[in-house]
Amino acid sequence: MPDFLPSSIELAYLLAAALFILGLRYLGSPATGRRGNFLASMGMLIAIVATLLDRAVLNYEMVLVGILIGSILGATGARLVKMTAMPQMVGLFNGFGGGASALVAIAEFWRRIGTPEAIPLDISVIVMVGVLIGGTTLTGSLVAFGKLRGTISGAPVTYPLQHPINGALLIAFLAGSAYLLFAEVSPTLFLVLVAIAFVLGVLVVIPIGGADMPVVISLLNAFSGLAAATAGFILMNFVLIIAGALVGAAGLILTQIMTKAMNRSLANVLFGAFGAGKVAAKGGVAAVIDKTVRTIDAEEAAMVLGYARSVIIVPGFGMAAAQAQHAVAELASLLESRGVDIKFAIHPVAGRMPGHMNVLLAEASVPYTKLYDMDDVNPEFERTEVALVIGANDVVNPAARHDRSSPIYGMPILDVDKAEHVIVMKRSLSPGFSGIDNELFYDEKTMMLFGHAKDTVMELISESKQL
Ligand code: TAP
Repeated sequence: MPDFLPSSIELAYLLAAALFILGLRYLGSPATGRRGNFLASMGMLIAIVATLLDRAVLNYEMVLVGILIGSILGATGARLVKMTAMPQMVGLFNGFGGGASALVAIAEFWRRIGTPEAIPLDISVIVMVGVLIGGTTLTGSLVAFGKLRGTISGAPVTYPLQHPINGALLIAFLAGSAYLLFAEVSPTLFLVLVAIAFVLGVLVVIPIGGADMPVVISLLNAFSGLAAATAGFILMNFVLIIAGALVGAAGLILTQIMTKAMNRSLANVLFGAFGAGKVAAKGGVAAVIDKTVRTIDAEEAAMVLGYARSVIIVPGFGMAAAQAQHAVAELASLLESRGVDIKFAIHPVAGRMPGHMNVLLAEASVPYTKLYDMDDVNPEFERTEVALVIGANDVVNPAARHDRSSPIYGMPILDVDKAEHVIVMKRSLSPGFSGIDNELFYDEKTMMLFGHAKDTVMELISESKQL
């Protein structure tokens, strides 16, 4: 192979890393997200081609088989998986990333065991870090995937001494690694440590409630990035180190954004077993069962909306679950054609994954300029005639502002109760993700429009056309 190739490969890696960073930058806004995705994919293509041209590759056939299997799985997943199932798909892919990095670490250790010279300390440390992070990410992600998919119960699994046991396992892993590094290179001990890493992943994730899984998945995403970076150090592949660090940093930032928007600490998500006792005691459904609820039918609701000056639509998980986004977009343009001012209010954790509502509304071709972040839209509610809440619950619960005993106290919410009228569309008075009742439903200005979100929006559309 000509002499100039190594430097060309390094240049290609540099270009790939620059494209990753640029891609992330563009992914920060829905308007440029597509371009960001394209640039980052180009970066990945360049990185893969450069790696394949590297003389370190020993077996092209196996690489090709891997690419084929991965591409088929990836393309099928992207086409078939519904938007509501996206968190579990991301979870599974994180797990594969962690598993691949753990395999690189295991293979490196194994490869060097047979060699006469001892394994250098720096390599051994990085291998053990790779085994710990990669192994826990793999099994933790599989549990998160199972919980989100419903294959494993979403309820937190708790038992006595749970956290001390996990702590003891971690200490055992670290002590065993130190023995391997400084005393004796024992393949048996190494395999025991690999097993501990796998078991730890399961034990750390099972006490976390299914509904907190998106936060866990975001954290595991960060871990998969760190695991990839360790694999990069093992293989001395710079682009893998950079890409891993970027994924790690992005995952950590996202985790922080999500916990902040839910007003929970990461420790509370990881160790709090949130969701173990569903339906909060105070203000629970039973406590308010005899409060008055005002209902409205589609015909009346269409009149309220059709003759309003301004409407703010608040989408939530129920809209996603009902796949009502296209119908909602149609209703919005119908109302706009009647001269109603329409805005969409997006809460940062509406739905079950970051950006859930933005992605769905973009899919339904709602212009980005109509989407307003919580901080921008909240002052608008008191100037608005109708707040139309479609399948959202916790993110519009006023208890978060004043009820100190509420599990969502302190969570920033969309101030829909400040609008002149509120129409809430959902199927029943059932609570949302946090399992608590919503005092908004009993507010005098609230009208409940019960039904499956998509069907009801379709009814609203046909009623609006007759106005
Ligand atoms: P939720 O509070 O979960 O409420 C969704 C509501 O949608 C439910 O009360 C349900 O009521 C209704 N619904 C379900 N299917 C429906 C259908 N087919 N048609 C009409 N309505 C339907 O959702 P939210 O307000 O979007 O809040 C999100 C919650 O998830 C927050 O508590 C947040 O902290 C949590 N969370 C979010 C994230 C991210 S990143 N987004 C991550 C982790 C946790 P009915 O059963 O009565 O219909």
